[in-house]
Amino acid sequence: MSTAKKEYKRITVKSLTEMKNAGEKISMLTAYDYTMAKIIDSAGIDVILVGDSASNVMAGHETTLPITLDQMIYHASSVIRATERSLVVVDLPFGSYQSDPKEALRSAIRIMKESGGHAVKMEGGSEIKESVKRILHAGIPVMGHLGLTPQSIYKFGTYTVRAKEEEEAAKLKEDALMLERIGCFAIVLEKVPSVLAEEVAKSLSIPVIGIGAGSGVDGQVLVSHDMFGMTHEFNPRFLRRYLNLYEDMGNAVSQYVADVKAVDFPNKDEQY
Ligand code: KIV
Repeated sequence: MSTAKKEYKRITVKSLTEMKNAGEKISMLTAYDYTMAKIIDSAGIDVILVGDSASNVMAGHETTLPITLDQMIYHASSVIRATERSLVVVDLPFGSYQSDPKEALRSAIRIMKESGGHAVKMEGGSEIKESVKRILHAGIPVMGHLGLTPQSIYKFGTYTVRAKEEEEAAKLKEDALMLERIGCFAIVLEKVPSVLAEEVAKSLSIPVIGIGAGSGVDGQVLVSHDMFGMTHEFNPRFLRRYLNLYEDMGNAVSQYVADVKAVDFPNKDEQY
């Protein structure tokens, strides 16, 4: 058997299962706008998530709850215009799928039609089973999301690690198996113990992508603004910052202000 990594022109939901089977870890980052998506896609990411974390990092809300379906479609269509290689998954926002399966399907269809996204992501297990099934029956790929599900933050009360107790861990395992059985192509596991996450990943044939779920899963996702260090007040243990753009961009702005005040900018070569 060849050990060469397969080259993908465009990542599809099937490619992710192939990666899992080949033991190749899946890379996923969020993006919400054209320019960021262009950088991330060109650098070779496998999956771009148009996350409802846009509510926090783009709009400055405290939670993901306020973002609307129209706003998610706006973000997703900007991302889609930038991408050539990555699979683009779009979060169904809070309130667009929880009430009944028909509404869930209508929301998912709007995302697919109006943004051009390739798949949707939904938070929850047995509670949303009928909605997930309805969307899957329409031919729309669904990524599940279990563990810490930020759309339920007011039920949890805190953003601490989920499923540390046996009862919650057992429900999570059942939900993961159920999501695979009904046809989800992948699952995100957020902020759960690494031992549990690894057990879930091993028990499923679909990929499990973790955030704060350890290294035993099939891939990793981070919020791009966090990994670039554009945010600086959010410091969970699982976050690795690859840049410190908060500081670098702040320094650039200070330098620009100084240059303008000193009439150093624009110089002779920077004008017509
Ligand atoms: O909205 C988001 O960014 C997410 C990730 C944290 C997985 O759901």
